[in-house]
Amino acid sequence: MNGASTMKPRSSRPRVICHMMASIDGRIVTGDWPLSSEGRRQYEQVHGTYESNAWICGRVTMEQHFASGTRTDAEVAREHDGAAREDFVAPGEHRSFAIALDPRGKLVWESGEVAGDHMVVVLTDRVSEEYLAMLRARGVSFLLAGRDEVDLPLALEKIGARLGIRTLMLEGGGGINGSFLRAGLVDEVSLLVAPVVDGTVGRASIFDVAEKGVTPQRLRLEEVERRADDMLWLRYRVEAVGAARKE
Ligand SMILES: NC(=O)c1ccc[n+]([C@@H]2O[C@H](COP(=O)([O-])OP(=O)(O)OC[C@H]3O[C@@H](n4cnc5c(N)ncnc54)[C@H](OP(=O)(O)O)[C@@H]3O)[C@@H](O)[C@H]2O)c1
Repeated sequence: MNGASTMKPRSSRPRVICHMMASIDGRIVTGDWPLSSEGRRQYEQVHGTYESNAWICGRVTMEQHFASGTRTDAEVAREHDGAAREDFVAPGEHRSFAIALDPRGKLVWESGEVAGDHMVVVLTDRVSEEYLAMLRARGVSFLLAGRDEVDLPLALEKIGARLGIRTLMLEGGGGINGSFLRAGLVDEVSLLVAPVVDGTVGRASIFDVAEKGVTPQRLRLEEVERRADDMLWLRYRVEAVGAARKE
């Protein structure tokens, strides 16, 4: 018997590092926090210490900080119900990637470059052909993963296989972080704790999971570092769900 034929194909899933800045009460909407610019810069500086050429954010974060605009509700409501379509990787040599998780294609992108990185959108197969044509015409790459909801493990496999990404920075907000964590897809948490109490009830937090019955997740502390402006950098490895605590 040929041994190779029984081997499982090697996974292309990148290593996922959830990198966030939070107040000491875990909230993440940082705009009005009393921080120095040196303190705020710690987020990008710590990001730069990881050997990663890609970051991913949820639709809400991308809409607030990076997208050129949004499609109308009527445009989004025109859905595709035909055969599955192919992923698209825009021609050219792409060295670094900004990835948006935008299941219904709500966001408008003017070009295939955002913040110096090549723009990639992860979509469900409900998105209209018209929207995909617009992305192709503007040089925005897209990956299709799932029909009604984004299939996160499949999306990650494609991010690894189609784009060659080995380490992916998961950079919020709480919705996307919570879904990745719940799906067991976070390998490490890189948390910058700002010397701030936010205290706003209902504000987004580091991990927000909408579904009931969340299992608390055990982490292992790997590193602690005090940085500029009393920022604390904590690095945790995510342990398997149900891992016992050492007494
Ligand atoms: N402090 C930091 O380091 C930091 C970093 C990033 C963001 N933020 C802040 O976080 C806030 C936004 O957080 P958020 O939790 O409201 O939004 P988010 O995580 O940015 O986006 C959530 C959206 O992503 C889409 N999505 C697709 N599949 C998903 C899945 N499996 N799980 C979760 N979301 C999925 C959904 O879009 P649809 O609604 O279209 O379905 C969902 O509403 C912003 O205020 C931003 O400034 C802070």
